[in-house]
Amino acid sequence: MTRITITRPDDWHLHLRDGNHMRAILPDVGRRFARAIVMPNLKPPVTTTQNALAYRERILSALPDGMQFEPLMTLYLTDSTTGDEIRRAKASGVVRAVKYYPAGATTNSESGVSELSKCEDALNAMSECELPLLVHGEVTFPNVDIFDRERIFIDRVLIPVLKKYPKLRVVFEHITTREAVRFVMASPPRVAATITAHHLLLNRNAMFSGGIRPHHFCMPVLKREEDRQALIHAAISGNPKFFLGTDSAPHARDTKEASCGCAGVYTVHAGIELYAEIFGAYNALEKLEGFASVYGPAFYGLPRNTDKITLIKETWDVPKEVPYHKDTLVPFRAGGTVAWRLM
Ligand code: DOR
Ligand code: ZN
Repeated sequence: MTRITITRPDDWHLHLRDGNHMRAILPDVGRRFARAIVMPNLKPPVTTTQNALAYRERILSALPDGMQFEPLMTLYLTDSTTGDEIRRAKASGVVRAVKYYPAGATTNSESGVSELSKCEDALNAMSECELPLLVHGEVTFPNVDIFDRERIFIDRVLIPVLKKYPKLRVVFEHITTREAVRFVMASPPRVAATITAHHLLLNRNAMFSGGIRPHHFCMPVLKREEDRQALIHAAISGNPKFFLGTDSAPHARDTKEASCGCAGVYTVHAGIELYAEIFGAYNALEKLEGFASVYGPAFYGLPRNTDKITLIKETWDVPKEVPYHKDTLVPFRAGGTVAWRLM
């Protein structure tokens, strides 16, 4: 197959940032995706419905002329998020989910949750009003190896939460391990997962090939080849529990190429093309539309998009860097090529 037309996809996990940095990347987003679940880890984080509404307005007014794109907003869960705030969020009609960052797990997670037991009021309200919990599924205990954080999270946090809140809908975001794939497959339909392109395309060797590669550093960190194979198997399986979430997370070049570099990979410049590459490589292009355009809206109870996109198998060059307001950023595959092109 050298050409494929599918329903326009959505991105169910995206970092848009804010202000002029957001303005710099929105054209890449809107060219590919009709909608995206927008992560709330700004500085300060988006912890209230009022903040989410204001952020949504900033996104809409930063869109290039004529670009159709619908931001699906999220709230950042903290130890003090109230049930009333959750009900306000639901009633707004624009907040679609609540993001759980364990405190200290990743970029701008300092105000995240210290203990989920502090969030009972919020979690009960989310269960009642069917606002999904999006989990950054990693424990942060200093004695747990960084490559085991996700696996341990399943037993210590996720299983107890699902048990305590039997109606809570959960998206296990950017899964990276065999264990997570197995867990989601065995869970009831209220549990789903997003998978990034970079975790499908790279294993952890990519962080160290010929030297340290800060542009391949993200959280959760890349895992073993066996894990990557399990993720591919899940993505191309046609199982509606697994859908597209790029987790594209831009950082200025000098904040990644630093003595303490930021976590995050920028992929939305090729945000559907990279998935086409991996699905194509595994002879599974007929499964791409479900993963990219059907299962996400079904989980969130939203209609599918009505327009289409076409991808052709034609190599294009990725620039070595791209402007990022007053900075630059280094996109995934910088200086290399992508095998599929968006028409
Ligand atoms: O690598 C990551 N970058 N993982 C996250 O969870 C956050 C993200 C960011 O905001 O940069
Ligand atoms: Zn993320």
